[in-house]
Amino acid sequence: MDRAAPLHRPVLLDEVIGFLLPRDGGRYLDATVGAGGHAEAILDASGPGGQLLGLDRDPEAVAAASRVLARFGGRARVLKRCYSDLAQALDEAGWETIDGALFDLGVSSMQIDTAERGFSFQKAGPLDMRMDPSSGGPTAADLVNRLPEAELRDILFRWGEEPRARQAARAIVRARERAPIETTTGLAEIVRRAAGKRGGIDAATRTFQALRIAVNNELSRIEPAVRSAAARLVPGGRAAVISFHSLEDRIVKTLFRTLARACVCPREFPVCRCGGVSAFSLVTRRAARPAEAETRVNPRARSARLRVIERVGQKGTA
Ligand SMILES: C[S@@+](CC[C@H](N)C(=O)[O-])C[C@H]1O[C@@H](n2cnc3c(N)ncnc32)[C@H](O)[C@@H]1O
Repeated sequence: MDRAAPLHRPVLLDEVIGFLLPRDGGRYLDATVGAGGHAEAILDASGPGGQLLGLDRDPEAVAAASRVLARFGGRARVLKRCYSDLAQALDEAGWETIDGALFDLGVSSMQIDTAERGFSFQKAGPLDMRMDPSSGGPTAADLVNRLPEAELRDILFRWGEEPRARQAARAIVRARERAPIETTTGLAEIVRRAAGKRGGIDAATRTFQALRIAVNNELSRIEPAVRSAAARLVPGGRAAVISFHSLEDRIVKTLFRTLARACVCPREFPVCRCGGVSAFSLVTRRAARPAEAETRVNPRARSARLRVIERVGQKGTA
């Protein structure tokens, strides 16, 4: 790989390695392997015997990561899978337990920088946004051209946190009555005119985030997948999750707090009856953020937040 121009620069790399503490002989799951940057560092740090299973739903990411990780031979395996299916992938690998897991949520630079994928409004391209184009699922163009106005408004409001979602959805519907909205830059122009900039974030940014989440059904998959990876951790094993916006981070924070809670009695019980001992502890009480030195060379890292938990009890109770 060309070190001067990586396909995707892994964020919070030193922090991830510092928290996961990969060890020789350990088994690691990278649930979002992308261009293989974090995976490569995990394999380097766990040499000579550490192994890694990398998953990604994007066939181009699988191809890129397979190339990057080829030098590790049989220590690395990369599969085209959605992380919702990670338990099955681990079973197929014969891995009942793992020593660490990483989820680096969101999109990769490979996806954003390829205009034809339709993730970015900085470049003119078709409104696609599917992480797995072979899935046959609806594209962003399908959603903006077909959904009823109220559904569009809800998507923009909930997943883009767009305060002027009503105006943006109205403008989309008006525009599509004249001609279908087919391009990234075309959509960006429509919503910018209708909703402008609020709180320093432009309507195109919010709209693209919302549509990407909707197209890929992103948020609903996070909690069950992270929980399922956590359930496989050996005592002392750690799960690390990097999120890029508050909606993702809220899910991770709530899940980790729930997993680390000792008492599992229903909230209405006035006193604890379960005598519970928590199976996980929070390694990061507050999310770790990138240092200024990192965001200077990689502005895309700016919104990254890393949370880590550790298995302290018996396996299989998450
Ligand atoms: C931020 S990138 C990961 C970059 C990677 N850590 C690296 O160092 O190159 C996120 C990746 O997660 C993948 N992804 C997103 N949702 C996924 C899912 N549900 N299952 C599997 N992969 C997913 C995307 O296709 C993308 O390649």
